[in-house]
Amino acid sequence: MKEILKGHIVHAPALGQLEIIEDGYLVLEDGVIAGIYSQLPGEHADGKMHDYGDRLILQSFADMHLHAPQYPMLGMGMDLPLLDWLDTYTFPVEARFADTEYARRVYRRLANELITNGTTRVCMFSSLHTDATWVLMEELEKAGVTGFVGKVNMDRNGKEGVYQETTEESVSETLRWLEGCHFDHVKPIITPRFTPTCSDELMAQLGKIAAEKGLYVQSHLSENRAEMAWVLELHPDCKQYWESYHKFGQWKDHTVMAHCVHSDASERRAMREHNVVVAHCADSNINISSGVCPVRQMLDEGIWVTLGSDIAGGQQLPMYRVITTTIRSSKVRQMMDDWKTPFLTVPEGYYLGTTAGHKYFGGGFAVGDALHAVVVDDGNFTESTRPLSINERFERALYMMEQRNIISVWSAGRCVVGR
Ligand code: GUN
Ligand code: FE
Repeated sequence: MKEILKGHIVHAPALGQLEIIEDGYLVLEDGVIAGIYSQLPGEHADGKMHDYGDRLILQSFADMHLHAPQYPMLGMGMDLPLLDWLDTYTFPVEARFADTEYARRVYRRLANELITNGTTRVCMFSSLHTDATWVLMEELEKAGVTGFVGKVNMDRNGKEGVYQETTEESVSETLRWLEGCHFDHVKPIITPRFTPTCSDELMAQLGKIAAEKGLYVQSHLSENRAEMAWVLELHPDCKQYWESYHKFGQWKDHTVMAHCVHSDASERRAMREHNVVVAHCADSNINISSGVCPVRQMLDEGIWVTLGSDIAGGQQLPMYRVITTTIRSSKVRQMMDDWKTPFLTVPEGYYLGTTAGHKYFGGGFAVGDALHAVVVDDGNFTESTRPLSINERFERALYMMEQRNIISVWSAGRCVVGR
């Protein structure tokens, strides 16, 4: 089927680049972008028209790191640093997801909040629980959220008897979970929580499963100084944190590592050499006092940086807000670096929250890609002193928009919210 979206089209094809097609036409063939035009070619005049008038058609958002079972603790418990925060607040909340009915209620609401805020792709952590993880995948699929979900693995340093598996359980439940993953748009990803909660035996088995089944891996890296010191105590043979993943075959192409706040030049080189993806989580890094990540430096070094809300270390899901926090955080970094490091511009922040993440799933906003887009109505914003350019309206939308401004969401070529 041929469809046409008409409106002001804005997307970021490369870092720092913004492409704006004012009063443009986006032509879809069976949900796949066939062309983007400022004048509709006659051969496409027969398509079904979605006329969005004076509204903005933006590429949708990709949240490359978040914890679904932490949704109930959103906006709470920000007074402790990472390791105490996990132990005191997080593990008890995640343990609640042994109850699949509870999981269903929470995850349905989470999936709805994601999609109505224009997050159409995710790379997400579930809890230890196989059944609740399937429920999560089902609810995302139903809502139109696509991407990867991981059943979390942890066989040590959790809460014994409350929130921890044996090594055998962790492996056999991972295999059982993988067997039951039959979703069209939501796929499994191997998810050791982080090195301190996974024994060597478990890490080795997970590396093997990932290799045998051709699966990607996601975890956490160098988020907090105490965490990093603990990893080196647990792995005296490793000089750096990243080696504790590398040792077990998990440091490889498309491995997503959240945070990386304190990764030094040599750890960053290892990322670049193995095409490991950074999920930068600016809200969380500030909330639980982890640090201010040197994102500009990473980008200059050619590292693949994406963004994550990291709820509930992060306090909010909407990626348009995560993007602006990322920009603010880069300005704090500039101040910390004696004003030497340039901050991230709006087009750069937008690129990181959209294209950089979408690339992970093999698509973008180009001919041949399934459409992932949001339509933004900025008509209720304060009247400006003069007519604004599309570029100005785009910037203001990123900083000011709320869920109610998103009138339509397209995910994997389908209109899943609005019309
Ligand atoms: N490291 C290990 N687990 C977690 C988690 O749930 N959140 C964050 N921010 N870091 C982690
Ligand atoms: Fe996290």
